[in-house]
Amino acid sequence: MIQLTVAGDSESTARTTAERIAAAIADARAERGVAHISLAGGRTPARTYRVLARIVDDWSGVHCWFGDERCVPLDDPDSNHRLIVENLLDNASQPHPTIHPVTGAADDPAAAAAAYEQELRAALPGDPPQLDVALLGLGEDGHTASLFPNDPVLEEQERLCVSVHGTKPPFERITLTLPILRAARKTIVLAEGAGKAWAIQQLMAGPTTRIPASMLDGGEEIELIVDHTAAPG
Ligand code: 6PG
Repeated sequence: MIQLTVAGDSESTARTTAERIAAAIADARAERGVAHISLAGGRTPARTYRVLARIVDDWSGVHCWFGDERCVPLDDPDSNHRLIVENLLDNASQPHPTIHPVTGAADDPAAAAAAYEQELRAALPGDPPQLDVALLGLGEDGHTASLFPNDPVLEEQERLCVSVHGTKPPFERITLTLPILRAARKTIVLAEGAGKAWAIQQLMAGPTTRIPASMLDGGEEIELIVDHTAAPG
């Protein structure tokens, strides 16, 4: 079931999203003393990460994972790891959250994806391993993480992390797959801009629309947070 939140302008969208993530972190830490969150790449969430760094004052026990990563060096301008370092880590209070980068993706994507999956399976409870919150973006074509339309990886049932050739540059990527994303306790999809309106409309219409983001719907609630320019009419 998709819950739509129209948060207003970019700043209020970032704050609303950051507050949801902070609340999920607090709930998980209160319950189990630890919180595992997966973070989105792309441009939209940068502001959210800067707000999140400001509103969370205790990061102990928080583990940040990547919903996807580009197969570039971790300090490359296109790297999602660099996005998190520059917007979250560089602004967060000490002790910092534990960041789990996808290492080696630039050299051997398949091996890096397999290693990341093993790291997730070792660190998270459950089978499939359960994230406390998964923050995901939304592409204009309805992709999310690096799960692109019509990619056979959308039917993956066993592997939790794979390498893909995507349709958005940089094309070589690593992505979490639907089994682990569907198992998350809370899923937040963040989208801004009129260009996302079609994808949002498809997402709201439910799984029959077959865009990757619509296939996230595994029963747990998904909150779709949008700014006023992306909001469905
Ligand atoms: C990535 C993202 C990807 C992104 C969407 C939206 O690594 O590219 O994970 O899924 O969230 O493409 O990107 P923008 O926020 O830049 O529009």
